[in-house]
Amino acid sequence: MRIKPNLAILCTFCVFLPHDLSAAPLRPTHATHAIVTSVHELASRAGVEMLRSGGNAIDAAVATGFALAVVHPQAGNLGGGGFLLLRNADGKTHFIDFREKAPAAATENMYLDAQGNVLPESSNESSIVGYRAAGVPGTVAGLVYAEKQYGKLSIEKVMAPAIKLARDGFPLAYEDTQDLRRDKHLAEFPESKRIFLRAGNYYQPGEVFKQPELARTLERLAKDPDTFYHGAMARELAAAIHKGGGLITAEDLAAYEVQEREPIRGSYRGYDVISAPPPSSGGVALVEILNILEGFDLAKLGNGSGDAIHLEVEAFRRAFYDRADFMGDPDFAKVPVAQLIDKKYADAWRESIDSNRASISKELKRPSIFSELERVASLKATIPEPENTTHYSVVDAEGNAVAVTTTLNESFGSRVTAEGLGFLLNDEMDDFAAKQGVPNAFGLIQGPANAIGPGKRPLSAMAPTMVLKDGKLFLVLGSPGGPTIITTVANVLIDAVDFGLDIQEAVNAPRFHHQWLPDQILVEDRLSPDTMDVLRSKGHKLSVRHFWGDGECIMIDPKTGERLGASDGRNNGKAVGY
Ligand code: DON
Repeated sequence: MRIKPNLAILCTFCVFLPHDLSAAPLRPTHATHAIVTSVHELASRAGVEMLRSGGNAIDAAVATGFALAVVHPQAGNLGGGGFLLLRNADGKTHFIDFREKAPAAATENMYLDAQGNVLPESSNESSIVGYRAAGVPGTVAGLVYAEKQYGKLSIEKVMAPAIKLARDGFPLAYEDTQDLRRDKHLAEFPESKRIFLRAGNYYQPGEVFKQPELARTLERLAKDPDTFYHGAMARELAAAIHKGGGLITAEDLAAYEVQEREPIRGSYRGYDVISAPPPSSGGVALVEILNILEGFDLAKLGNGSGDAIHLEVEAFRRAFYDRADFMGDPDFAKVPVAQLIDKKYADAWRESIDSNRASISKELKRPSIFSELERVASLKATIPEPENTTHYSVVDAEGNAVAVTTTLNESFGSRVTAEGLGFLLNDEMDDFAAKQGVPNAFGLIQGPANAIGPGKRPLSAMAPTMVLKDGKLFLVLGSPGGPTIITTVANVLIDAVDFGLDIQEAVNAPRFHHQWLPDQILVEDRLSPDTMDVLRSKGHKLSVRHFWGDGECIMIDPKTGERLGASDGRNNGKAVGY
């Protein structure tokens, strides 16, 4: 038995200690030229430093990404992966997939015991904790590729702030010390315990956290980025993983490659939407949700009204149902993207929504318009709930924009620190379906499209997204939160487009989420009790949580061109601009 559904879902919210939302910004940060938003002020500042010294949005994003690997070890990373969406001021887009890949020795049943049961988190062979949970990291390749292809500055220059932060240290916030202290598994790995828990003498708020091994690793990468995949560092990393019982070899590292993919494109009420393609389900699900909702007048129903939330949730339910059936790594499974984001398909789904009554997830029937499609999976493929990730957004003075979502999967990933190298490895292998045909801990059923396979990328929900108005950049969006990433991006986008909220209001607004199964709406506790009653009266089951996600978003004022940055008050981030 894996972690229990409620516990797992609760963990998603425990990563950040509840702190008073009244401390949250109520208005966006205004910047005339350029802005960076991220979960850590020092990482945002690293990006702005690049912009101020002649760099573009990519230089800033790469600097912020490396800095997050130092100041936000919960999710910022060298040992994980992610997705980067770039839109240049001239309108050209690039989507960089640096998602982790399964090592060559990975097998479909590698996380099952002799009886065919999924290995528990406590096993040292699980998909969640320890060396075997790690996929081949893509972050270094992704950031370096982005910098070389699209940046203006040198690798040394964009890595300099991260190196300094690792070497000289930075003061830890209360929430960071709590995240470290409360983690259930970091102490199990001597190198992680020594570095992150100071061997049990836990860091206190305000204490300076220095990471000399990580500083050394970053310095080596700045001089020779290739060493991570093809040089001495690759050999050291592979040796450390081998010693710990993991599967990733020097050959796996050498075989890793970044993919440029075509982003998903949709439209919503005259706005253009650009988002993440498979192996993320994020963009497809987002566009499907928006297509379904386009036929309803949400603005008329009212922001935060039970009637509007009901319709949004019904769209979420349907998109997640499709996501479970069809999504996986497009290099290995045929994903019917065009059909899923077809407006006619959404029209048919919309017909099945009763504005007064909740649908029942288990009784959903896919509209017949889809029936002629060749199905990728006869079983349901879906995604386990993870616990931490981070998103950051950049717009530079010329109007180039970057949205990056990156992750180790859970908070602190597999909790394993690569010996001598000072960085944590991901547990992204848990984003695969560990077992097919059997409901996972969340009541969801696993299927072939997302089965484990050598060289395959696990399905993701990450959704770095941009929205254009009259062909001009309007929104840059993204968040962590596993499956709630998709609905958080939808919540913020709809709040801005349908309800006219400013970007900070949209990021702050109470969130709600539905993922088909379990058949319940997750709502943040600030949603009005009256609204909750309306939803219950329509037949919805509600699960109330304090908060989740971390929207780090930007809006461009269509009239003035000002960059309006919103960092999420649920956490400690900051929008920094000039
Ligand atoms: O790729 C994914 O969808 C997950 N590994 C993301 C994990 C996540 O967002 C957890 N955040 N709270």
